[in-house]
Amino acid sequence: MQISIKERVESVINNLDQLPSIPEVVGKVINMVNDPNVDFRLIAQEISKDQAITTNLLKLCNSAYFSKGKEITSLDRAIVTLGIKEVKDAVMVVATKAVLNRAILGYDLQRGMLWEHNLAVAVLAKQIALEKKDRTIADIAFTGGIIHDVGKTVLALFVQSAFKEILAKVETEGISFQQAERSILGYDHQEVGERILSKWKFPQILKDIVRYHHQPEQAPEEHRKIVSYVHVANSICLMGGIGIGSDGLYHELSEVAIKLIGITDEELNRFYAEIPEIVQKLKGLNF
Ligand SMILES: [Fe+2]
Ligand SMILES: [Fe+2]
Repeated sequence: MQISIKERVESVINNLDQLPSIPEVVGKVINMVNDPNVDFRLIAQEISKDQAITTNLLKLCNSAYFSKGKEITSLDRAIVTLGIKEVKDAVMVVATKAVLNRAILGYDLQRGMLWEHNLAVAVLAKQIALEKKDRTIADIAFTGGIIHDVGKTVLALFVQSAFKEILAKVETEGISFQQAERSILGYDHQEVGERILSKWKFPQILKDIVRYHHQPEQAPEEHRKIVSYVHVANSICLMGGIGIGSDGLYHELSEVAIKLIGITDEELNRFYAEIPEIVQKLKGLNF
């Protein structure tokens, strides 16, 4: 008997070993930063256990995007100079590059395109949150942005083999690409992404960003606003052609998200017009 595509997806998703991994320290650091009483020296200690992460992190902290002008030569200095949340964001950039900076063929994304897209969404989601005076969660908007499409890395091969079917469903039924993906493969990239984050032991708020970034109105109320920042940033980046793949044309902008973060048409247009500047900023995220 032939195994159906749904069963094949299911078996990959349920097999933790087949899901992408990142250094263990990253999940620990993300959870530690979530704790308002944490001692930053413990975080520095944790990061320093991973030599590769530490080396790249110090380079990134001195790059144009994060640098505050003073040269940073140690983890302690990085935390004192940039703040613990910025350092956590930098850890995320360093740790996820290997997973995201690959060709994602089923979605028609050449090598580097998903990475650029996710970084652009991270930078823009943070910028919107800051402009909306949501300072306390701006860093989480950034972290969520970086990983929001991580599920595509796993689902891509299946999307590739079922691509015609998915597209036909989108066109005949007038549904979104993600809905068609779900109906044919049994999963969409949001749910796969959530599974990956569970494997990485990431906190619920990040799982909700990944799970609901295309349907912010369905997100649990406590996290709906942060999901909305990533959703809106994602839409703007796609409209601007950053990381637009086979599914990009079938994306919708949620009214609920627009209302919740109180973003006007003028503001949307302005952020859209800032895309070249954002792409420029990404160049400053080098390590
Ligand atoms: Fe997505
Ligand atoms: Fe995206």
